[in-house]
Amino acid sequence: MEHQSNKAEWAKRWKVGQTGWDLGGGHPLMPTLLRRLKVEAHQSTGRVLVPGCGLAHDAAYLAKVGYAVHGFDIVEQAIEQAEEAYGAIKNLTLSTADAFQLPAMDPFDIVFDRAMLCALPKDLRVAYIKSMQDQLNPGGFFAGILFAKVNLRPDQGPPFALSESAVGDLFRGGFRLVTWETFPNHEEPKVVEEESLVIWQKK
Ligand SMILES: C[S@@+](CC[C@H](N)C(=O)[O-])C[C@H]1O[C@@H](n2cnc3c(N)ncnc32)[C@H](O)[C@@H]1O
Repeated sequence: MEHQSNKAEWAKRWKVGQTGWDLGGGHPLMPTLLRRLKVEAHQSTGRVLVPGCGLAHDAAYLAKVGYAVHGFDIVEQAIEQAEEAYGAIKNLTLSTADAFQLPAMDPFDIVFDRAMLCALPKDLRVAYIKSMQDQLNPGGFFAGILFAKVNLRPDQGPPFALSESAVGDLFRGGFRLVTWETFPNHEEPKVVEEESLVIWQKK
């Protein structure tokens, strides 16, 4: 498939340390996400794919609570650094890969996305969601922490804000909505004002 996901731009951001999205640890909403996965999706175990995992803090969090997690990123440097920090975790596999050209893998129960869909330009969103959908078992879940409100104009992104209706249009055909909750973001700097914790189930 043709795509214009710009590996060189991402590699440059990693090289110069322009990684303001990195929280230095698991996202503060992860405990809430775990509760939602357990109560609303009945999915407290299983195989999880983490696209664009960066330094893999959330992937490591999910592996430590018992999921079998595969995190990948298009930039080698990100995966090398993630391996240094989390390579010893038993349930965690990390690899360099492109979300639009994934190798054959066994299907997953959950895709977990934080700041990957919101980092992609609008014209790549449909192809990205299709690619993730293809990795899921029927009835599997796309769980995400999306940026609901950012202090940037759309032409200044990434990141790009995604409203419930915009995301709904992207997912409606292949998924059903399980949960959508929006929270204020307390992290600094305040590029991202609000985040949405979302779970969609593959039809
Ligand atoms: C905004 S960062 C988020 C990183 C991580 N999820 C986090 O929350 O810290 C987006 C990540 O996606 C990676 N990325 C961009 N395009 C990609 C692609 N086509 N396939 C895999 N990873 C990609 C970038 O290298 C970057 O690490």
